[in-house]
Amino acid sequence: MKLNLEHSVFEIVSRVAERKKTPAYVIGGYVRDLLLKRASKDIDIVVLGSGIDVAKEVARELGGLNVTPFKNFGTAMLKYKDVEVEFVGARKESYRRNSRKPVVEDGTLEDDQNRRDFTINALAVSLNNDDYGTLVDPFNGLKDLECKTIRTPLDPVITFSDDPLRMMRAIRFATQLDFNIEPDTFEGIKSSKERISIVSEERIIDELNKIIMADKPSKGFKLLDKSGLLELIFPELTALKGVDVISGVGHKDNFYHTLEVLDRIAPNTDDLWLRWSALLHDIGKPASKRFDEKAGWTFYAHNHIGAKMTGQIFKRLKLPQNEKMKFVRKMVKLHMRPIVLSEDTVTDSAVRRLLFEAGDDIDKLMTLCEADITSKNEEKVKRYMKNFSVVRQKLKEIEQKDHIRNFQPPVSGEVIMETFGLKPCREIGDIKSAIKEAILDGVIRNDYDEAYEFMLKKGEEMGLMPVKKTGNTEEK
Ligand code: CTP
Repeated sequence: MKLNLEHSVFEIVSRVAERKKTPAYVIGGYVRDLLLKRASKDIDIVVLGSGIDVAKEVARELGGLNVTPFKNFGTAMLKYKDVEVEFVGARKESYRRNSRKPVVEDGTLEDDQNRRDFTINALAVSLNNDDYGTLVDPFNGLKDLECKTIRTPLDPVITFSDDPLRMMRAIRFATQLDFNIEPDTFEGIKSSKERISIVSEERIIDELNKIIMADKPSKGFKLLDKSGLLELIFPELTALKGVDVISGVGHKDNFYHTLEVLDRIAPNTDDLWLRWSALLHDIGKPASKRFDEKAGWTFYAHNHIGAKMTGQIFKRLKLPQNEKMKFVRKMVKLHMRPIVLSEDTVTDSAVRRLLFEAGDDIDKLMTLCEADITSKNEEKVKRYMKNFSVVRQKLKEIEQKDHIRNFQPPVSGEVIMETFGLKPCREIGDIKSAIKEAILDGVIRNDYDEAYEFMLKKGEEMGLMPVKKTGNTEEK
């Protein structure tokens, strides 16, 4: 079979390979994606000789591009137009048992294909004059592509123990491409799962994030669970599994509910961190689960427990410790608020309080809450959705009127000090928070003049006397 290689870099590589008598092939993900008609940014070229030498010469032909060589691995990379092209000499690799770093030896094309992770990633296309564009497919990778199958080229136990990250990759590809993992390959993951311990958190998270960003992430999490990997890398998630029944009363399985929420949010957002919020929204449930004869199953304060766990999980998994984590923590903490709000009569003050706490993330919080409605009862779902649209409408109206999203106290601490002749003390904080509460409760508007009047009244109640009658408006 011949393939049409469109990118202009291929002809140049072909010319150089011919001149240097070093056969060259495109290999791996680029070939797979070409056959699947998926976009691909990276091109891997394998040469039967020195990858670094060929890369240097290609760079010269392309007008003196920069080449980044990695001498230890015998690879070199250059950027050309919209792609990154990596050159590597064909290798026969053996791995040390306790490290992912391979011991590298020169090899044939077939050696190189043998040591790759999956048959669909071991496809190569010749760049050599006599058979330019011909597919080299020793493991029937093409057939596996057509049957949507992930399969290792060698005995799965060898492939996975060579590089245990591949177990995550198998599940990630199955999720991204909506493929199945061939049964022996899946058994190989199950029996090699403990080896995941030698893979760094960063690499595991890279794959996990790709699963989370897939169209239907639940597929990946179910496979991770079934293989036993999830228990090892993310025990907080497997702890969500199961249904307890006491006195004939059960609760929903929070693992499958969580996965449903993640699938439901996927079409509505490409924000990785909002998807993470969906994954973690109920993470505090196992720790808060109680049974009460009257109330049945309760998960009191699971949102607060979950928010606390979010910080710990982000730290352990080497996820960012910055505003991304704070965002997820906030979403987990607030995820029940709009539901509670929509169950009640939606009062202005409840909406103001929600706006105050969620700030600019209010729309994302609403998206999370809408995804969280997974009831099978259509009437119930309809009612919730209708209430949510009332909440959204109210949020809009109140924000327009009161500007609570990025709340700044309308009367500053300095004005309070000046007015009552105070040095820094507790009373200032008390007055400020009374003003904030009055605004959130709708007693006064979020406005300097009203807040100033309120401050005078509050001060009086506290036995404070104004020493200076500040002209309110000029202080704005
Ligand atoms: N590869 C491998 N084992 C790994 C990683 C990569 O055998 N643990 C091989 C595969 O042949 C793969 C190629 O190296 O196709 C390139 O790897 P990479 O760029 O990481 O993945 P892609 O397959 O291109 O897919 P993606 O870009 O989606 O990660």
